[in-house]
Amino acid sequence: MEKNHKTNSYYHQLDQEYYLPVFKRFPQAMQKGEVCWLWDVEGKKYLDTLAGIAVNTLGYQHPEMLKTIREQSEKLLHISNFFVSPEQVKLAEKLSEISKMSRLFFTNSGAESVEGAIKVARKYAHSKGKDGTIVSFSQSFHGRTMATIATGQKKYQKGFDPIPQGFAQAKFNDWESVKKVADKNIAAFLIEPIQGEGGINPVDKNFLQKLKAFCDRNDNLLIFDEVQTGIGRTGKWFAKDHYQIEPDIMTLAKGLGGGIPVGAIACNEKVAEAVDFGDHGTTFGGNPLACAVALTVIDVIEKEKLLEKVQQNGDWFRQEIKNLHADEIKEVRGLGLMTGIELHFEAKDLVMDMLENGVIANATAGNVVRMVPPLIISKEELTIALETFKKSLQKIKTAHVQ
Ligand SMILES: Cc1ncc(COP(=O)(O)O)c(C=O)c1O
Repeated sequence: MEKNHKTNSYYHQLDQEYYLPVFKRFPQAMQKGEVCWLWDVEGKKYLDTLAGIAVNTLGYQHPEMLKTIREQSEKLLHISNFFVSPEQVKLAEKLSEISKMSRLFFTNSGAESVEGAIKVARKYAHSKGKDGTIVSFSQSFHGRTMATIATGQKKYQKGFDPIPQGFAQAKFNDWESVKKVADKNIAAFLIEPIQGEGGINPVDKNFLQKLKAFCDRNDNLLIFDEVQTGIGRTGKWFAKDHYQIEPDIMTLAKGLGGGIPVGAIACNEKVAEAVDFGDHGTTFGGNPLACAVALTVIDVIEKEKLLEKVQQNGDWFRQEIKNLHADEIKEVRGLGLMTGIELHFEAKDLVMDMLENGVIANATAGNVVRMVPPLIISKEELTIALETFKKSLQKIKTAHVQ
């Protein structure tokens, strides 16, 4: 075992010895973050366009977040949900105001939000005499718990039989496929307005309108999974705001806490009425620290007018990538600071080359380079990401030709 605590490989050896081997890790061990930059234990600096996978909304060490964490931890970290806390009710009120959803419940992660949404949807469906089938969509990703893998891609279900019952799938953006699975007994359709892990695939507006109308006609619920797209990521508070379609239930996590684990289930009044005392619960979900930080994240997005900045910077960035007119790029997709660059080949080697050149991105759905940087990223920093992408693309292209 290497003994030098200052090397990436030392921590990788320890990781391999003690951590459950479920992640294919990047070679670095990260030790510090500031604004949009990370430092590994060897002191090398990286521009982070992954942001903990769309989590670090305000980057690293935002002074307002640090102040809230300091002050709240000196007052009260945790209290059971048998008590109300000022921070939790204020966050519920604020999220209700910006989302136009009437009720909130707080969780600790994205998968937990989706699990809770499925439970609430089934409770509503049963109150209407329907069965509890949840219909999700091809290439979707809603988490790694048993129920959330039941909604997702087959590759995530392998080895985990028996998979929970009561789930069906339709093809994303394919209305004929929805018609095939649809019947009046369905509890809910569960959809990401922009698929994240599936390769940054925006839902087609016409398709979503048809789905909404179908749900309204048949009293099926529409659940938007906004775990990755929510809280300003797309340049509006929620991706639903681009489509002007209101779901019955919406799930949040990732960017809400800006790095502190907190998620939420939001629903309308009709769904809330089907829920009784004891139907759901959590020990940690919505504790005062998590809620105080989430409130600060929302407050800073408002104060720093980040939504407009995210839209402008995101549009500019995608246009710059399109302007490269590179044969290797199949399509550039996204909204706000959620960008997917689909290549004609696997994206892994390019992402590794970018990393070596000091820019963190990731490969998703095989051939898509995903960039979901902190919402505070500057145009200058996006230019660095762009130049590095260009350089790595050139290098990979040359390697492919040889
Ligand atoms: C749309 C969506 N839903 C749910 C999840 C699961 O979130 P978590 O990893 O916090 O459980 C993710 C994670 O990537 C996601 O992108």
